[in-house]
Amino acid sequence: MQDRFIKQISLLPADLANELVPLLNQQFSGHLDAQQVATLLQKTGLTKAELMFQLLNIAKALALAPISHFYVGAIAEGNSGDIYMGANIELPGRALCHSVHAEQHAISHAWLSGESGIRDIWINATPCGHCRQFMNELVDGGKINIHLPDTKAQTLQHYLPNGFGPKDLGILQPLMQKQQHELYCEDHNDPLIIEALDHASLSYSPYSHNHSAVVLEMADGRTYSGRYAENAAFNPSMMPMQMAIASLVRHNQSFADIKRALLVESSVGELSLIDVSSDALLSVSAVPLEHIVAEPV
Ligand code: THU
Ligand code: ZN
Repeated sequence: MQDRFIKQISLLPADLANELVPLLNQQFSGHLDAQQVATLLQKTGLTKAELMFQLLNIAKALALAPISHFYVGAIAEGNSGDIYMGANIELPGRALCHSVHAEQHAISHAWLSGESGIRDIWINATPCGHCRQFMNELVDGGKINIHLPDTKAQTLQHYLPNGFGPKDLGILQPLMQKQQHELYCEDHNDPLIIEALDHASLSYSPYSHNHSAVVLEMADGRTYSGRYAENAAFNPSMMPMQMAIASLVRHNQSFADIKRALLVESSVGELSLIDVSSDALLSVSAVPLEHIVAEPV
């Protein structure tokens, strides 16, 4: 089991802890498939709600909170029934606007894993206005059930009445709905560029058209990617560098092992993420940010 879970596992009921220890191996990065969840329910006799609130103790352990020392965990259940953990991430020494909230982290985890929507989300602290707005960008966002400790589950619509969303800007294909904006670049031999182009083509930027993605490559060759996810209210957008850093943290990797960092963005976007991405990267690594501007196919 990974060291970061040792303290948290001791807070769980013994039978759940016994079932979880083998799952929290070195490969664990906050994802349990629907079958694993069903087995945990069956082996422990817990209700779904009891299990999910217990699992938030594990999700919280994925946090990086050097500024607030406040640990938030979230678990998003995708349409497939698989569950995706996330936690808050604060970038050391950088502006607070670079932070990733637990809810954004869990949802981006589900999106990167190929989910096409979120049905339910469990959180150990009430979602802030920024997260309510972020979730309102999703397919059927208003219908997402929000589960908080000691509170009746309510929809996002309840937590964000009269919400502003993509429809107000004429966008009818919301976040997580599969859409592809193919991008092309001359250099077809570099696997890092190919991976970044793939993610950029799946990014969500209906407002600026800056389809973009970041890939971080580690010393052992592993890669962690993030896609740009815009928001109708602009400021709650999630940056591709933050999404890639969140993925790296979730996989229990060390920032010191980052060997290459690449941002790919579309030539037709109305903005560039180069400066904001470099600033975020500088907080965790001294590697220079490589930058490719790609053409729409
Ligand atoms: N935080 C979340 O992760 N979700 C919320 O909705 C509330 C706030 C995090 C952000 C920051 O890392 C810390 O909690 C203090 O605000
Ligand atoms: Zn929030």
